Amino acid sequence: MANSRGFFRALSWANQLLSYQRPSWQCTSCKVTRSAAFRTSRRYATTSGEASNKPYYVTTPIFYVNAAPHVGHFYTMVIGDVLKRWRTLTGDNKARLLTGTDEHGMKAASAAGIDTQTFCDQNCKTFKDLAHAANLDYTYFIRTTEHSHKDAVQYFWEMLQHRGYIYTAKHEGWYSISDETFYPQSQVHLSLDPATGRKRMVSIETGKEVEWSSETNYHFRLSAFQDRLLELYKTGFITPEHYAGDVVKSVSSGLSDLSISRPVQRLTWGIPVPGDSSQTIYVWLDALVNYLTGAGYPFPPGGGSHLGWPVDVHVVGKDIVRFHCVFWPAFLMALDLPLPRNVLVHGHWTMNREKMSKSTGNVVNPFFAIDRFGVDTMRFFLTFQGGLASDADYDNAHIIRDYKKYLQQGIGNIAHRTIGCAKGKLRTYILNATSGNSPAQSHDMAYQSVLEQLATKVADHMEKLNPRAAVQEIMAVILHTNKYFHNSAPWENPDQKQRVIYNVAESMRITGILLQPFMPNKAKEILDVFRVDSSKRSLSDANYGSDADYGESIEKRIIFPPLVVEE
Ligand code: MSP
Repeated sequence: MANSRGFFRALSWANQLLSYQRPSWQCTSCKVTRSAAFRTSRRYATTSGEASNKPYYVTTPIFYVNAAPHVGHFYTMVIGDVLKRWRTLTGDNKARLLTGTDEHGMKAASAAGIDTQTFCDQNCKTFKDLAHAANLDYTYFIRTTEHSHKDAVQYFWEMLQHRGYIYTAKHEGWYSISDETFYPQSQVHLSLDPATGRKRMVSIETGKEVEWSSETNYHFRLSAFQDRLLELYKTGFITPEHYAGDVVKSVSSGLSDLSISRPVQRLTWGIPVPGDSSQTIYVWLDALVNYLTGAGYPFPPGGGSHLGWPVDVHVVGKDIVRFHCVFWPAFLMALDLPLPRNVLVHGHWTMNREKMSKSTGNVVNPFFAIDRFGVDTMRFFLTFQGGLASDADYDNAHIIRDYKKYLQQGIGNIAHRTIGCAKGKLRTYILNATSGNSPAQSHDMAYQSVLEQLATKVADHMEKLNPRAAVQEIMAVILHTNKYFHNSAPWENPDQKQRVIYNVAESMRITGILLQPFMPNKAKEILDVFRVDSSKRSLSDANYGSDADYGESIEKRIIFPPLVVEE
């Protein structure tokens, strides 16, 4: 490999552009093949500014295909989907969700004894199946082995090089084979392997073993971005803030430049460095660019925003914060690309307090969990109990407990009793209440005000990227409704009955609307049972008294049946 000066002398940027032949380019989302002429004209394009009405753009991490999906992956997917669906609920029907698979750097294929692409195809399908089983309303499922992605990554590389952010150097450091990354001295420590009693160096962040390694490869001038990164963290880039502290501390303590290629002998399955087939592009640079590929990068001159760039929210687990909050914004800063607005970090699902992970083997198969409890129950449970700022321990008994308390004896019971108690007169009660002909007692008014505030409170949590607090707020109202219903005893108080029944019917309509992003199928069932018109199910309809037209000829239906299998 040439040194950086020699490299630039031998292959000037202009020459690279002329000599570098690409297959005709496909827009990843619309799959429209663009002409070569268009491709050439956009090669120098960067995005200047962004359209104010750009689509809201949410991403999940892309999943390694070297192991089967588990509940932790399912959780990440669901959080992304809830954010996207919430945005749709607010009336934005252009919101986008990108998910997909990270297929480069595979070592598992040779272990499995099959051709690498076949291995990736098979395992990618499992993640796609999970996205469907999880009822993800994704806009595009990206694979890093797609041609369009390879084009985007190589273009991104060339732009970094063109701007002088890439150089070659000998690199020595602590390298983790399983994380495919070098760690600085400050990020590793000595640890005892519990299985063998052997002392070894491991990454503090991932716990993976590292070894001292020396090689010549390409580097990115990460150190040039320390000040700008620290400025970025002041804008609330990282949510919850809890995670920002460690990032700020680590960036403040100094940034080393980043090795961004590996000798091809070490990393064969990946994207070659443009103009140097002896080196393969570092898997994390490759992987992070997927978010740009998903937005149609390289962008046409002055474009980019029509497919959502910049990202509004990257959803990531806490183990990949450094990649998304340090490397990724620095890469984008180097190209003057608009930066993502938020990285939403979540904690891990654990089993007996140990991280659920493929390497430990303590994983829960999400397909089995969905089969057993139903997709909406799982989506509810994961968002309700899953930790953002902290970890959460997974336990089937907790799923059963929460199902019974909030769904079956909560929503299901309220819906059932409301319809039963109304004895066919719900429509009349609704008309009377909405036309002011239904007297309310003070306790009715107090309860009414809880319903009046609910949508605003939930919207506020979602605005702050806290789906857990949002669904907890809804569930608190469900418990409150059960109490209100019970204490009001409408069956014993004919004078007050109309108002009470109307109020609890409103609770079903309002919570049904607000639960749509969390439990799309069950929320639809609730709204269908109460005959809420499909045109009146958006966030602006989740206000007390705002719909006088539902409740016609309703019939009892069991929405949350008893679970077939109990612990
Ligand atoms: N391929 C990288 C991400 C590249 S994004 C440009 C990767 N893949 S992964 O398959 O290992 O993890 C994908 C996501 O699943 C990460 O956000 C990770 O945090 C999350 N989870 C993996 N195990 C988890 C738990 N036990 N609990 C919750 N989420 C976890 O990293």
